[in-house]
Amino acid sequence: MDQNLVIAIDGPAASGKGTLARRLADYYHLPHLDTGLTYRAVAHKMLSEGLALDDAALAAEAAQQVDLSNLDKGPLSAHAVADAASQVAVYPQVRRILVDKQRQFANQPGGAVMDGRDIGTVVCPNADVKLYITASPQVRAARRLRDIESRGGTASVEDILADIVKRDERDSSRADSPMRPAQDAHLLDTSEMSIEAAFLAARAIVEDVLAKQEKTHYMSR
Ligand code: DC
Repeated sequence: MDQNLVIAIDGPAASGKGTLARRLADYYHLPHLDTGLTYRAVAHKMLSEGLALDDAALAAEAAQQVDLSNLDKGPLSAHAVADAASQVAVYPQVRRILVDKQRQFANQPGGAVMDGRDIGTVVCPNADVKLYITASPQVRAARRLRDIESRGGTASVEDILADIVKRDERDSSRADSPMRPAQDAHLLDTSEMSIEAAFLAARAIVEDVLAKQEKTHYMSR
């Protein structure tokens, strides 16, 4: 029996894809890679060394140095890093280097849960299950604000919304691997869903696909 399971999860910023990916990885006992952190690591290195974000060759050098086993979420969570990550993510050289590292992670024995923008389309086109998670920009902005406030910060919902719309636009209009659902992705709009409801809906999709593939051993783990 095929013991390998790769779950690809894509979607825009603050759609809930990261939370769903962690929950699914936990449930199916699979390693998880948030591929956004790899682009953030490139951006963080460039910002902290004062390198120009419009220099694709320097960004590619920074990408070579990204170590998947050493992605420290703390400094990579900053708002400035997210925006810079979206800028360096347009360079094909950067994407080639990072996609190669991401595929090595996805190809480990047993499989993995991968989340990002181009997992179902480019990184893991043969994934067993592909999910594309969306939510309206307004809902995503409200979620991001709650997130910031729960960590003691403040922000205006208008600024967050403008930022989300700008990042969506950049991520979905770039020439190389734009953010979009794979043809065979299952779409899940979480605008009206709690985290728990979204997790149950995602799990139901995964189990339906696995049942069709007769990978029933995963259903009982
Ligand atoms: O998911 P995130 O917010 O951490 O991603 C930060 C940026 O990285 C995102 O705006 C675009 C880029 N990214 C990408 O181009 N491809 C991915 N698979 C993941 C992220």
